[in-house]
Amino acid sequence: MTLKGLPRVTISHRGAQRLSAGHPWVFSGDVRDDGGAVSGDVVLVQQRRRSGKLRVLGCAFFNRESMITLRLIESGEAVIDRAFWRRRLQQALELRARLADEDQAGRLVFAESDGIPGLIADRYHQVIVLQTLCAGAERLRRQWVELLQELTGVDTFVERNDTAARRLEGLPERAGMLQGRLAGPLQVRLGGLLRTIDPLAGQKTGGYLDQRHNHRRAGQLARGRCLDVFSYQGGFGLSLAAGGGTPVTLLDQSERALEIARADAASNRLQVETRCGNAFDVLRGLQQQGQRFHTICLDPPAFAKNKRALESALRGYKEINLRALKLLEPGGLLITSSCSYHLSVDLFEDILLQAARDARRQVQLLERRGAASDHPERLGFPESRYLKCLLLRAW
Ligand SMILES: C[S@@+](CC[C@H](N)C(=O)[O-])C[C@H]1O[C@@H](n2cnc3c(N)ncnc32)[C@H](O)[C@@H]1O
Repeated sequence: MTLKGLPRVTISHRGAQRLSAGHPWVFSGDVRDDGGAVSGDVVLVQQRRRSGKLRVLGCAFFNRESMITLRLIESGEAVIDRAFWRRRLQQALELRARLADEDQAGRLVFAESDGIPGLIADRYHQVIVLQTLCAGAERLRRQWVELLQELTGVDTFVERNDTAARRLEGLPERAGMLQGRLAGPLQVRLGGLLRTIDPLAGQKTGGYLDQRHNHRRAGQLARGRCLDVFSYQGGFGLSLAAGGGTPVTLLDQSERALEIARADAASNRLQVETRCGNAFDVLRGLQQQGQRFHTICLDPPAFAKNKRALESALRGYKEINLRALKLLEPGGLLITSSCSYHLSVDLFEDILLQAARDARRQVQLLERRGAASDHPERLGFPESRYLKCLLLRAW
């Protein structure tokens, strides 16, 4: 579509300031006139200057149903057509080609961070899993499949739009095949191990690709008796076992995830024990029994899904970290993560300090880590810096 045919959405001075500071979203309270745009449209974003003249700020996806009414695609005037999106995808793929390691899985497109608002594309060997998390990305679903097939040669596509984030956009939750067939779970090489991924039924798009470099790092540092809490299919635990940790216990509330972890351990000739249960109860029980570990990983789900939930989330983070610190041998390693965007790294470290005080332990911070580099952070867009993974040693 030419620029002339696009609806024009006028935003407030505050909204314009936000965009010029590098943040790609405009919230509903900053929209002055929607120019008759329909959810899913690409629109021209403009601001009325003091002189009364209108100035075009950029092109964006529009969604009337969402608090995030506009998601900036490009600053200034640009023709947002198929060729434009092809270039954007190509740019994202070039980065991944540069970052390539021996893993057969990784993130190809990380939404706003790659300049493609709302689109997530994860590759598991010969399968691509898509999430379209805003109305604009949703409308172009067919086009993403065609372009990604053209650019990667992959012809099997799965949709994992069964995520609560879609509800906030007024979009239905849905999962299934978009193209091709998938008989069941796949085997992919990750961190030197053969891992099972179920793109249709696993958590997220099948696995926690954002943690894959942290899994590997944990394996390099593994020592002695290890505990992987909130293990899912053993991303940390299997790496710990491969790195020489023994014995390794995986703990999760999902028996299905643990079943897959046991099968993967066997196919990689590794030994792990699994425990199905509520991490809070099991950690308390281990402490009461006087158990000790040399290495503990904590990787809970996001306790703070929104700002309002932060207060109780802080209590949850503190409790599991306190219990883990009490279970650590002197000199033991704690690899602790939080994927709550609302919990800043400073606040997370503060909680760890409080937990260390209560546990009467001294703690050294060895590394501050984040998501794997194929989940790049977009400067000016803190929402893309959600995963924190700290490596600590406790005395
Ligand atoms: C962020 S995922 C873990 C990802 C995993 N560590 C990895 O790197 O692949 C969180 C996991 O916690 C599990 N979980 C959630 N609440 C739990 C609870 N109260 N007790 C035990 N497991 C829980 C979920 O089943 C999920 O597998």
